[in-house]
Amino acid sequence: MKTMPINKAFTLLEPGPVVFITTQDGGKHNLMTISWTMVMDFTPKFAITTGSWNYSYRALRDSKECVVAIPTLDLIDQVVGVGTCSGADTDKFEKFGLTPLRGKYVGAPLVKECLANIECKVIDIVERHHIVVLEGVAAYFDRSREEKRTLHAVGDGTFVVDGYKLDRREMMRSKLPAGF
Ligand SMILES: Cc1cc2nc3c(=O)[nH]c(=O)nc-3n(C[C@H](O)[C@H](O)[C@H](O)COP(=O)(O)O)c2cc1C
Repeated sequence: MKTMPINKAFTLLEPGPVVFITTQDGGKHNLMTISWTMVMDFTPKFAITTGSWNYSYRALRDSKECVVAIPTLDLIDQVVGVGTCSGADTDKFEKFGLTPLRGKYVGAPLVKECLANIECKVIDIVERHHIVVLEGVAAYFDRSREEKRTLHAVGDGTFVVDGYKLDRREMMRSKLPAGF
């Protein structure tokens, strides 16, 4: 093995599914693209990394609510577009042809065109590391959708697309929560 630049090491770990985070700020909907996500436990708790450099951050901090929406391969241009402009001066739902749907527990909207949506409460913010901790309160999955492949941002402007699924559920039985 050869060495690689340490400042590129994150690209080895980065590719979780890229998501949208939607927020509501005083009646105004917004969404941003996030690839820095982490599943924290089965309850379910998730972490995302973002901060005050993004317009969405204030809405996350003040409303303490958001929706994690999971886009698929067909939405790649919306994923990049949403992540390269700001809700401070743009209605991104309108600009990128995305449809906000009313959630049940939070003011932030679901995204109709996405494969899945998770309504979340913000339960902690670790400011020193820009970590926002979320607790999922409701989840939705669009089974009617043909395209189910998610996108994985490598972090250098390239993306990996889901390939095929391998089943090791029997081997992992003792480690999985009930119902899997
Ligand atoms: C593929 C992709 C992944 C991104 N991942 C993150 C991320 O994990 N954290 C973050 O703070 N910003 C991330 N961004 C940048 C934000 O989405 C971007 O700054 C966005 O314009 C913020 O929107 P807002 O100002 O309306 O909040 C990403 C952008 C792209 C295109």
